[in-house]
Amino acid sequence: MSAIRIAPSILSADFARLGEEVRAIEAAGADLVHFDVMDNHHVPNLTVGPLVCEAIRPHVKIGIDVHLMVEPVDALVPLFAKAGANLISFHPEASRHVDRTLQLIRGHGCKAGLVFNPATPLAWLDHVMDKLDLVLLMSVNPGYGGQAFIPSTLGKLRAARERIDAHMAATGREIWLEVDGGVKLDNVAEIVRAGADTLVAGSAVFGAPDNDGGYRTVMRQLRQ
Ligand code: DX5
Ligand code: ZN
Repeated sequence: MSAIRIAPSILSADFARLGEEVRAIEAAGADLVHFDVMDNHHVPNLTVGPLVCEAIRPHVKIGIDVHLMVEPVDALVPLFAKAGANLISFHPEASRHVDRTLQLIRGHGCKAGLVFNPATPLAWLDHVMDKLDLVLLMSVNPGYGGQAFIPSTLGKLRAARERIDAHMAATGREIWLEVDGGVKLDNVAEIVRAGADTLVAGSAVFGAPDNDGGYRTVMRQLRQ
């Protein structure tokens, strides 16, 4: 497998210095900015929208990986595409027409992802694999940074890896497998062994002091 991608979640960044923070993670080797959007309706928390995405866009060259935890989904897709998102993922329970939402995202020139909560079955993959660029497996229940990794996600991760590998072998088209929630130095090896190729890490990265290259050190350790 190619190198692991790391997507620090801005949820644990210093929001008063967000431009500096995203520049710092890019300089420290991040592959993507993971941008958590919560609406206090689909999930019990409230974060940021397209305006903030647009504001950070000029600060980095790396892709912005927008994780929509909102309901409904569709109206926000064009706004995030315009704000500079590169990937847009959503929870299937939040969209009445999952296939349509995937088409909408791709139609706006972004890569499309489907997000699976710990209790959401992989059966949602059954009829949409050909429209997916990313499968995002939640290893915590969405809503907050800094929660503990739910170990039962590992079995699901292996199952998702098998399905994606079969699809890639049959079509030659790449689909990323991203894990989000509680990814830390002490469980990263197991998560990668189970099949993740892209890791979201919020508190693990932003919890490190950056004044002495802490972000770079944590990301290097996560990759190792
Ligand atoms: C949770 C978010 C995650 C979270 C990750 O709802 O989707 O991206 O911020 O943060 P950590 O790595 O701290 O669990
Ligand atoms: Zn997320």
